Amino acid sequence: MVMLAEPVAQALAAARDRQRLTGIDNPHVVYLAPHGRRLDHELVMQLLARPGLIFLAGRYEGIDQRVLDAEVDATVSIGDYVLSGGELPVMVVIDALLRQLPGALGDSDSAEQDSFVNGLLDYPHYTRPEHWRGQSVPAVLLGGDHARIQRWRLQQSLVRTQNLRPDLLAARGMSLLESDVLAEAIAVPNT
Ligand SMILES: C[S@@+](CC[C@H](N)C(=O)[O-])C[C@H]1O[C@@H](n2cnc3c(N)ncnc32)[C@H](O)[C@@H]1O
Repeated sequence: MVMLAEPVAQALAAARDRQRLTGIDNPHVVYLAPHGRRLDHELVMQLLARPGLIFLAGRYEGIDQRVLDAEVDATVSIGDYVLSGGELPVMVVIDALLRQLPGALGDSDSAEQDSFVNGLLDYPHYTRPEHWRGQSVPAVLLGGDHARIQRWRLQQSLVRTQNLRPDLLAARGMSLLESDVLAEAIAVPNT
């Protein structure tokens, strides 16, 4: 079964009308589909820069190609697997967009420190209690020396990215400071 072109075109026209009421004349229409560009942080930021967005979710085998050709500006996939419908992919994209908006998060720094924002994976996080089932919070985090804590966090991010996603590190490169910090971690593991 394939979704008909005409009802989809009418739904998009209604969505465009709604956006026009808020002053957005040319919203970017995004179809969620497995053959689209894979969603990543760069694409999230590109979508965020658009003045208006309309998301189109398919079902069944998809949507008649003619309405897609006529109406869709970008096709986005959330990964190399197939879901039954585009509703969850749309919600994934909206969540990724919303957490970038000012005021969306309790701590405004959180989104800036997330994985992928600066091309690295996030460092490990710890909270109370200091000792839990034989494991302790790393001593550096308890010392109150903010410069040392920053360096430790950078080092953890670099080590984690190198171990788990070397492709990210290769694409991004490293500053001299980052190379030093990473080399130190290799020379003295668990610093
Ligand atoms: C069962 S899927 C259609 C799969 C399509 N026949 C194919 O093989 O590529 C139905 C709808 O789910 C959505 N969908 C499924 N997987 C998706 C993914 N990985 N990313 C984004 N949307 C997806 C799309 O909107 C799609 O039109």
